[in-house]
Amino acid sequence: MAKEKAVFVCSACGQAHAKWQGQCDGCGSWNSLSQGKAVAVSTGRKSSGGFSGQAAAVQSLASVTVEEQPRWSMGLDEFDRVLGGGLVPGGVVLLGGDPGIGKSTLLLQALAQQVRLSPQSSVIYVTGEESVSQVALRAQRLGLDAVALDRIQILAETQLESILATLSVARPRLVVIDSIQTMFSEEIGSAPGSVSQVRETAAALTRWAKSNGVGLFLVGHVTKEGALAGPRVLEHMVDAVLYFEGDPQASFRVVRAIKNRFGTVNELGVFGMTDKGLKAVSNPSALFLSSRYQGSEDGGAPVPGSCVLVTQEGSRPLLVEVQALVDTARVPNPRRLCVGLDPQRLAMLLAVMHRHAGLACFDQDVYLNAVGGVRVTETASDLALLAAVVSSMRNRPLPVGLVVFGEVGLAGEVRPSVRGQERLREAARLGFSKAVVPAANAPKRPIEGLDVIAVKNLSQALDCLFER
Ligand code: TYD
Ligand code: MG
Repeated sequence: MAKEKAVFVCSACGQAHAKWQGQCDGCGSWNSLSQGKAVAVSTGRKSSGGFSGQAAAVQSLASVTVEEQPRWSMGLDEFDRVLGGGLVPGGVVLLGGDPGIGKSTLLLQALAQQVRLSPQSSVIYVTGEESVSQVALRAQRLGLDAVALDRIQILAETQLESILATLSVARPRLVVIDSIQTMFSEEIGSAPGSVSQVRETAAALTRWAKSNGVGLFLVGHVTKEGALAGPRVLEHMVDAVLYFEGDPQASFRVVRAIKNRFGTVNELGVFGMTDKGLKAVSNPSALFLSSRYQGSEDGGAPVPGSCVLVTQEGSRPLLVEVQALVDTARVPNPRRLCVGLDPQRLAMLLAVMHRHAGLACFDQDVYLNAVGGVRVTETASDLALLAAVVSSMRNRPLPVGLVVFGEVGLAGEVRPSVRGQERLREAARLGFSKAVVPAANAPKRPIEGLDVIAVKNLSQALDCLFER
């Protein structure tokens, strides 16, 4: 028999501890342990030394028949793209993001598309956060047609057992749970949103969806630090984890695949939020450039501190402008502030720049911003980032038609980036005329309209960028 024993569970990562302690061993967060009940795992061994379970048949991989099932389109090209070409039937997807970013909107639009694609089957939107009338109001705002309004079923319920019973009767094709943090199971004592509730309700819903071949979207909240609230186990349970990012002030939004069992990770889907819901942006590569690259009236006059980089997100290159501001520090320890870029990486790169290019900024504040609220995680942004910093430091603008990419190593070398040719071709396609790239990424054949300068190290790169 399994024994019940008190444990202390971390509300941030779900790790169980035998004793209460101030800091979680798993994730390092403070004051996050609370007492919960855990069932001690029985050893599974009989006293005789044998195993208690029944032996199951194993089979060879070759004997498994694989059925290629067509994927379900979600109606928006960019959404299908992050899913890896549409939703796999029976796929379970976790969609996380800040409040108000558009999760509910996107999923309601996806449901509307599903009923259009397969008129025989039903879809259900389970809302635990908003009332039925609020969802109806959103549907109206989205301008959903009468067919969609008629066929999308809505359920305002938060109790898991009741939801599962309803779903088993309704037999839908696609279900949205908005949000998983509001759901609770009668069988678990803790409050909705707690680790055990989130984990168990998500597991039960996932099991149900998998065994019935139903597509399931779980909406998840994110914490202040930007991680999905609730235990990380949620991410292991589902087939795909998508994050909704972007600046809520700006109109465009990015959905990024963090994990995808059926597609590429780090794939990006770019959307614009309009007064009639989300629209896919079909040509996003130039979206993250400031207006001076998009035909503004000042004719694209170069400004100091700005540099365009080519980053490879998922399967396509994106051009992103980084802006730097370097200013005399008024306090003993100067500030390193990054929006959309990694501040630790910046600190490291500034040290490399000092040691290998002789440019110091230990008495300067450095601010960095990736234009448009996009987040650049790739190390291929290093060189462009330093180019922007030096440009601001020296008050020397870089030419307008210039793109830069390449990773900078601790020895001051410039390392190649993956898919360099694709990046260069995309830059040429968007009318850029000059590129500073790692030596190994130099194209074998010249690219029309693009003057490519290959560099081996940082000091060489800065020499040709600023003609030192
Ligand atoms: P919502 O989808 O409710 O966000 P989430 O579920 O992630 O919390 O709302 C997104 C925001 O978008 C909200 O502030 C209102 C706005 N919005 C539009 O601009 N146009 C629209 O057509 C809709 C439906 C919402
Ligand atoms: Mg919502």
